[in-house]
Amino acid sequence: MEEVLDRIIDDFVKNEGNLVSVLQHIQDELNYISEEAVYYVSERLNIPAGKFFGVATFYSQFYLKPRGKNIVTLCCGTACHVKGSAKLIDRTRQELQLASDEETTKDGNFTVEKVACVGACSIAPVAIINKKVHGKVNINQLLKKIKELSS
Ligand code: FES
Repeated sequence: MEEVLDRIIDDFVKNEGNLVSVLQHIQDELNYISEEAVYYVSERLNIPAGKFFGVATFYSQFYLKPRGKNIVTLCCGTACHVKGSAKLIDRTRQELQLASDEETTKDGNFTVEKVACVGACSIAPVAIINKKVHGKVNINQLLKKIKELSS
């Protein structure tokens, strides 16, 4: 990990980068922003770790916990809600045996996250699976896709 972080630090110094780009690189390389990584770059760059955590918690694009290999994003905006997204979310979480306070399965295979309107209301309810948008999804399609990704 240190080798990766050293490369990110070198880029930051060379390109007079900003904290957001450092965090983006860390997340791209390590899948999430680990405390260990933040403390490492903070010390090497002589920038307080609190500044990194401040930026990381401000932007929803950053994740402070490890994320799954497969990301299932379920829209819970108004249009999707009206079309039954709450049931889709509950059933998906149940299928993946996620505890109420967890988004990522214990085996690290899936992360299920909820988002507000993704801007595709005409095809509600919407699921985004590994960055691919699926519209008018029903629970059977969703569970089938999850099974395919599990195998
Ligand atoms: S509410 Fe789900 S896409 Fe708009």
